[in-house]
Amino acid sequence: MRRVRRLVVLGSVAVMAGCARALPDADSPGARLYQGRCGTCHPLHEPRSLTAAMWEIQVQKMRETMRRGGAPPLSEDEEALLLSYLRAHATDARGAS
Ligand code: HEC
Repeated sequence: MRRVRRLVVLGSVAVMAGCARALPDADSPGARLYQGRCGTCHPLHEPRSLTAAMWEIQVQKMRETMRRGGAPPLSEDEEALLLSYLRAHATDARGAS
């Protein structure tokens, strides 16, 4: 618990320092979900920074991390939407921006 709270503080500092760039397709439902649910403990990682396969692993890992940190879990639909968004903009996505 305490570790997560410290991350929140570090995260806000990083955001203020300008680490958070505009997300690709920032107005899409996937981007909004990503912003709303994945940026509370740490700054958002750029979708382009990981491959699609790495995103799948990370999102699975975060399921457990979020449970332990007391964050509400993603529903199956939300997880599918989030993954399709991240895959579409991953390092190895076709036409990645
Ligand atoms: C409850 C707080 C919390 C939430 C919410 C959360 N994360 Fe994390 N995340 C962490 C912590 C803590 C770590 C580092 C330790 C670990 O890997 O468990 C981490 C690490 C990561 C990493 C690895 C960074 C690296 O450099 O290896 C990625 C990628 C990531 N999170 C993505 C996400 C995504 C995507 C979501 C939304 C589904 C999310 N996180 C939501 C706490 C959170």
